Amino acid sequence: MKIAVSILGIKDRNNVEEIERLNPDYIHIDVMDSNFVDNYSFPINEVKPLVDNYKYDVHLMVENVEKYIDDFVEIKPDCITFHIEVGDTVNLINYVKNKGIKVGIAINPNTKVENIYPYLKDIDRVLIMSVEPGLGGQAFMMSSLDKINKLYEYRKDNNLSYEISVDGGINNDTIKLINKCDIAVIGSYITSGNYEERINSIRGII
Ligand code: DX5
Ligand code: ZN
Repeated sequence: MKIAVSILGIKDRNNVEEIERLNPDYIHIDVMDSNFVDNYSFPINEVKPLVDNYKYDVHLMVENVEKYIDDFVEIKPDCITFHIEVGDTVNLINYVKNKGIKVGIAINPNTKVENIYPYLKDIDRVLIMSVEPGLGGQAFMMSSLDKINKLYEYRKDNNLSYEISVDGGINNDTIKLINKCDIAVIGSYITSGNYEERINSIRGII
């Protein structure tokens, strides 16, 4: 399983660099527009001084997805993920792909996993929200386990290759529940403690 560290709780470039030195698979950047979710975070002008050249996993919790794709292309992310709840899914998949970037679709806790099935053959990654989007530090929702299982089986049955990623409430206990996923997005568990100790404790489990 790969680790993506969410830097939502970090505003200092030095701390981001410290995380990069520990070499997680991705740095996860949460982008919020105070519209799709109430909070606001990480406009591109705040992100650029924080990041230089890493493997970024950009999670867009925004309504106007195309505008933010245009903004974030600048940091050459590995993957850009937007929410299925926004709508216009087919066009947005193609919009990201045309930039030469991997594309992911996120689903909220209250969205049925089956809603994403028609798009799975065309995308690189699914991001299952295991908390309500918009805030770090919430408790992992057990209802996401059923979604992980279904996406795992669907991939096998249909011979597809998307990655399954889970975001929210993951710590050294809940990580044990999600062993069928490919990428664990972890924020406050890592960024509220000693980064190295916390990352090592996760690596010792997965
Ligand atoms: C929540 C964000 C998450 C968040 C995870 O809306 O998408 O990426 O930073 O933080 P934790 O691990 O604290 O739940
Ligand atoms: Zn996220």
